[in-house]
Amino acid sequence: MGSQLLSTVEHRKVLPESYIRPESDRPRLAEVTTDSNVPLIDLASPDKHRVIAEIGLACRTYGFFQVINHGIEEELLEKMMAVGLQFFRLPPEEKEKLYSDEPSKKIRLSTSFNVRKETVHNWRDYLRLHCHPLEEFLPEWPSNPESFKEIVSQYCREVRQLGLRLLGMISLSLGLEEDYIEKALGEQEQHMAVNYYPQCPEPDLTYGLPKHTDPNALTILLQDPNVAGLQVLKDGDNWIAVNPRPNALIVNLGDQLQALSNGAYKSVWHRAVVNAARERMSVASFLCPCNSAVISPAAGLVGDGDDTPVYRSYTYDEYYKKFWSRNLDQEHCLELFRS
Ligand code: OGA
Ligand code: NI
Repeated sequence: MGSQLLSTVEHRKVLPESYIRPESDRPRLAEVTTDSNVPLIDLASPDKHRVIAEIGLACRTYGFFQVINHGIEEELLEKMMAVGLQFFRLPPEEKEKLYSDEPSKKIRLSTSFNVRKETVHNWRDYLRLHCHPLEEFLPEWPSNPESFKEIVSQYCREVRQLGLRLLGMISLSLGLEEDYIEKALGEQEQHMAVNYYPQCPEPDLTYGLPKHTDPNALTILLQDPNVAGLQVLKDGDNWIAVNPRPNALIVNLGDQLQALSNGAYKSVWHRAVVNAARERMSVASFLCPCNSAVISPAAGLVGDGDDTPVYRSYTYDEYYKKFWSRNLDQEHCLELFRS
């Protein structure tokens, strides 16, 4: 059976029925606003206390922020985007070789979200890679385009450093030791999704990715500099567009940081919408606790007064299996782990 990849077919004129959302579940793009106060954090700022306070505020109120002066060269961001796009431009035969809809595979080119579980599909293809330890996974990565391995591995290394640095600052912002989160998560896995959202004939009727939270700890997203598409939910019912900003990276908290912070920090609901005029790319890097890590609210944050644990302890392995056994836009997966 052939794959359902979108990027192997010529641009379509009408949206196939299996992508059409029911009327009550459409993006209502006209109601989306742009928030000019989206937290923007300058990591090169000399006032470290202030940076940590800003991160704490962003994690509490939004569950995400953008970083600039993050230490990853502009040229590498551009190369990462360019090689991702080249990959999706490869001939169909080349891409079909990597196709799989089995979520446990450590490298796969797939489409939508979880085609085996979902009833309505999403207007996205994605290449998913495991990236740490690099030497273990690199041999299996695509060697076409020729520069793919070199560029993507350099990007992965640098993004990991940035992610660990951010976890340190997030720990401090919670009043924990700087290495608390890193220790609690164990030797973290790192996964990448290179997302490709083709031009879509009817963007009002479908999603690139529907509303979801990320199941991991921290996600660093490199957005297409030219095409908007990421939206985050603010205050329960207001979708705001996070428009691309040159050289910024978007950081969003995943479910595990919400659990570790005992609900103080939010794993933000977000979605990707698609575009009638342009294709769009994004590169999401996910830092994930090691499978055997036991996740529970940080001891320093519960115990005194009213702060009882909101979530029970569980292993990340248990959480991740639960996440992939479900559809993407159901209730928050963490709700199933309340104590
Ligand atoms: C994701 C994601 C958003 C985007 O890959 O988990 O939320 O803008 N991507 O592509
Ligand atoms: Ni996401």
